[in-house]
Amino acid sequence: MRVLVTGGTGYIGSHTTVELLNLGHEVVIVDNLYNSNIHVLDRIERLCHQRPKFYEVDILDKEKLRTVFKENEFDAVIHFAGYKAVGESVSKPITYYQNNIAGSLNLYELMNEYGVYNIVFSSSATVYGDNFEVPFKEEYGLGDTTNPYGTTKKFNEMILSDIAKAHEKFSIVLLRYFNPIGAHPSGLLGEVPNGIPNNLVPYIAKVANGELPCLNVFGDDYDTKDGTGVRDYIHVVDLAKAHIKAIEYASKHNGVEVINVGSGKGYTVLEVLKAYEKACHKTLPYKISPRRPGDIATCYADTHKAKQLLDFEVEFDIDKMCEDSYNFTLKNPNGIE
Ligand code: NAD
Ligand code: UFG
Repeated sequence: MRVLVTGGTGYIGSHTTVELLNLGHEVVIVDNLYNSNIHVLDRIERLCHQRPKFYEVDILDKEKLRTVFKENEFDAVIHFAGYKAVGESVSKPITYYQNNIAGSLNLYELMNEYGVYNIVFSSSATVYGDNFEVPFKEEYGLGDTTNPYGTTKKFNEMILSDIAKAHEKFSIVLLRYFNPIGAHPSGLLGEVPNGIPNNLVPYIAKVANGELPCLNVFGDDYDTKDGTGVRDYIHVVDLAKAHIKAIEYASKHNGVEVINVGSGKGYTVLEVLKAYEKACHKTLPYKISPRRPGDIATCYADTHKAKQLLDFEVEFDIDKMCEDSYNFTLKNPNGIE
């Protein structure tokens, strides 16, 4: 298949591009490099011995995006491009709605115009909100989101579901990611957060390499086994592989499917810290801090649908996720350059 990957130089997009290329698919990346770097393409080339075609285009620029559709005949789209910082979305809602909704609408409009009907969309477990019992099941539907970022994911799911209803040729897979962490085992690709990380594992990585003094554990009074928050972590390479299965599924079906992508297991913050200590052979300092506003106690996936529809199961465990994260951190002290 010839696949348009928006946001393909980003964290999950770059890993997915590698998996696509390794399976013989053709990849065209569109990214404005807002949160990634052109050198990611060199790393992909080192891993796959081929360089994906790349357009430095902002999906908000519909005419430039149109050129990409004019110059390439796509079989499918994997849509990663978007802003993803939960806290920032609270202070910049217009920017988030503009980029994640208006940008996506440009893409969907051009797909319809150019007859490209298969799409996998990056949604998030955040759309379940605080409304449901774990494990989160796809059939629960959409909960009450607690920040504009989450609402952009919910709106995109609704928009794409309406598109599937109105245009019967469309085939849409909404992947609800749980917590992607880790890095490519080669150490060539990984997550490079800007400034002080908001997410747990990127933060621990900076404590492990001495850039930050100590992890703040946000709350130890949740109703969980050690009082700290429970999440479903998934290795980014496993997540990338789920996209291949999803795009293959989309190319053979019509309509819309919502599918969780997680491991189905929950780990507390202190369990993740312990796994990271094992990976880096150090004791990592931490202190208990107040709960972070908006956090829920426990979040993990029901993974039956992914198994049933996509035959997808995760391969890598929490130890491997932490090992690969630390390996990437050690090999790339200044990020991908
Ligand atoms: P990322 O920031 O590493 O990658 C996103 C890419 O999109 C970046 O390279 C950025 O430059 C690009 N981009 C942003 N706005 C753009 C625009 N207007 N035009 C063109 N390119 C643009 O993020 P990621 O972690 O790889 O996440 C990919 C997708 O998955 C996002 O939509 C994110 O919301 C979603 N998601 C991520 C997580 C997570 O924990 N990482 C969890 C759930 C969902
Ligand atoms: N945590 C800490 N200290 C930190 C950072 C996080 O204790 O410095 C805790 C949080 O309180 C939470 C857990 O670690 O209990 C995981 O937090 P993350 O910020 O890593 O991840 P979240 O589950 O809050 O959110 C992530 C993405 C969202 C996405 C969601 C989907 O950031 O974009 O997963 O489940 F929507």
